[in-house]
Formats: sequence, C-alpha cells, structure tokens
Amino acid sequence: MLDKVKELIGEVNDFKATTKEELEAFRIKYIGKKGILNDLFAEFKNVANDQKKEFGQALNTFKQAAEGKINQLRETLEDADLNKSSLNDLTRPAEPLNLGSRHPISIVKNQIIDVFSRIGFTVSEGPEIEDDWHNFTALNLPEYHPARDMQDTFFIEQNPDILLRTHTSSVQTRYMENNKPPIRTLSPGRVFRNEDISARAHCIFHQVEGLYIDTDVSFADLKQTLLYFTKEMFGKSKIRLRPSYFPFTEPSAEVDIYWGLETETDYKITKGTGWLEIMGCGMVDPNVLKNANIDPTQYSGYAFGMGIERIAMLLYQIPDIRMFYENDVRFLEQFKSIS
Ligand code: PHE
Repeated sequence: MLDKVKELIGEVNDFKATTKEELEAFRIKYIGKKGILNDLFAEFKNVANDQKKEFGQALNTFKQAAEGKINQLRETLEDADLNKSSLNDLTRPAEPLNLGSRHPISIVKNQIIDVFSRIGFTVSEGPEIEDDWHNFTALNLPEYHPARDMQDTFFIEQNPDILLRTHTSSVQTRYMENNKPPIRTLSPGRVFRNEDISARAHCIFHQVEGLYIDTDVSFADLKQTLLYFTKEMFGKSKIRLRPSYFPFTEPSAEVDIYWGLETETDYKITKGTGWLEIMGCGMVDPNVLKNANIDPTQYSGYAFGMGIERIAMLLYQIPDIRMFYENDVRFLEQFKSIS
C-alpha cells in the first residue's frame, strides 16, 4: 500500500501538461471527487494500526504534491497564453506613448528667458517668503510709504517683517547685495497679492523682472532693449512708453505695444485703441543702488517687470486667468505641441 502511494507521488511529480485540458484531466484523476486520493482515503480504515501514521503522512504528501503541481502548471499555462496573445506578435502596433505637455506659464517664461539670455541676461532666483527689507524697504519703499498700498500684501504669522513677496524685485535686491556691477539678471518667479480673484486678476501669479546695472546705462538703452524684446517675443515693432510711477525707478514708464486692429479680438483686447500695456519699467532709483552698496555716482541701471500670465493670455488668447491654475487637462493638452 505504502509503496503504491510513493509510486503515485513520483508520477505526480513527473507529470507535464501542455494544455489546460490535460491539466484538468490530471486534476480529476488524482484529486477529483472520484479520484485516486479519495479512494486511498477510503482504504485508510483497512490499514494496520501501526502503519496508520506513516500511511496518513504519505497521503498528505501525495495530496500536497498534486495540488502544488496543478497550481504551478496553471500559472505556466496562463503565462504562455499571455505571451501568445501579445508579446509574441511582433506585428502589433506599439502601445501609444502618452506624452505630457508643459504648462503655458512655463512655456512663456522659458521664451522670455530665451530672448533675454541672447543679450547676456542670466537667471536669478530667490525665496517666495521674504522679509520687509528685500521686498519693500531696500526698494525705496520705507515703512508707511503710501506706495506700499499698490501691492496688497500677505503677511505671515502676524509678523509684519515676514511676508509673501509681492513682486520678484525682491530677488533683484538680493542679487545687487551679492554681486558687483556689471549686473544683467532676470528674475522669474511666483508672486502673491491679497487681491480678489476674477477673470483678470489672481492672488497668485508669475512675473519676470529684469535688472541691468553698469556704467553709463541710459534710458535709450532701456528703450532699445524693450524694442528688441517685443520684436522677438510678439513680432511687433512699435512700442510706446507712458510716464508712470514706481518707487524703485525714476523716471518710470509703462510699456505699451502696438498690437494692431486687424481682427475683432484685437478690438476687444485693446479696447479699440490697438495698444496693449505689457509691463512697467524705469531707471533704477539712486536710493535703491545706495541701499545695495552700489555707488550711484559711478553706476546707473534700468529695471523692468512683467506678468507672465498676462503675456500668455495675449499670445494664446486665453480669456480667463483662473484657467492657469485649474489644471484641467482639456486646457493643458492644447499646449502639447509647444515645448
Ligand atoms: N515690481 C513692479 C511690479 O511688480 C514692476 C516693475 C519692475 C516696475 C521694475 C518697474 C521696474 O509691479
């Protein structure tokens, strides 16, 4: 009896199947309801008492061997099925590659950096959580200066010295403190203002600001640089500078480009004038240079700053600033072909 079981174990271990049908026949034969295993269990009562233990153990080994074999072969056969259906067919078209797209803010930011890097500007970055000195005071905006109200500020933890930067001019303050002229730097980044959210304004947006300091930098240099930028960025070559006010520049100006009045959209976005305001600029105020230990009798400079969202909205005719932050893939996917 025992020998018979051992023989069966050997048989089970040697078994091979190439189809699921063969495997099922094997299962029915050995461990099915009317299979060999159950027959052997039925014999159990006829086994001599002193052999019962050994016989019982042999039966268990047999059962485990049969079950193990079935599981193992089932897996192998399933794998083979998979291979047959997909991996072995070399004529199948490849799985489509799902390419992501860059965010329009990144696209426009990179374009602006690209245009200015061709005339020697490098990129500098700074913290989004700033202190009062770098965001305001060093930029000729001392405490209680009314112009602080131009940029509604988020303060942090009731500490009026720590705030979320309201413009990336703060990066330029830091850059002037740590670098000697000539300075030619571009500061892109996220800025924060406590403003009501609407289609035109958001409490978080992005800026690129530029700073150029050297000996004999004049307003003509600024104007020429702006003209170069608008030509490269928008393909437009007519700009105008309107007098304006910023505490950190003197004189200051607002830059408009002539967009034209060819289409209905042109009428809409320029309010029928053909002109579009795109940035603020001016000659760096001598006080700002002094605050950064740069001698204003030796050096002069210009600065400019623009909102990236505004430029992206113009370039891609985006009607609502909130679309930039909703991360709706139907919106984002439209920028797939641009890098
Ligand atoms: N910092 C200004 C703003 O955020 C922009 C600006 C930069 C204006 C540099 C003039 C010169 O509105």
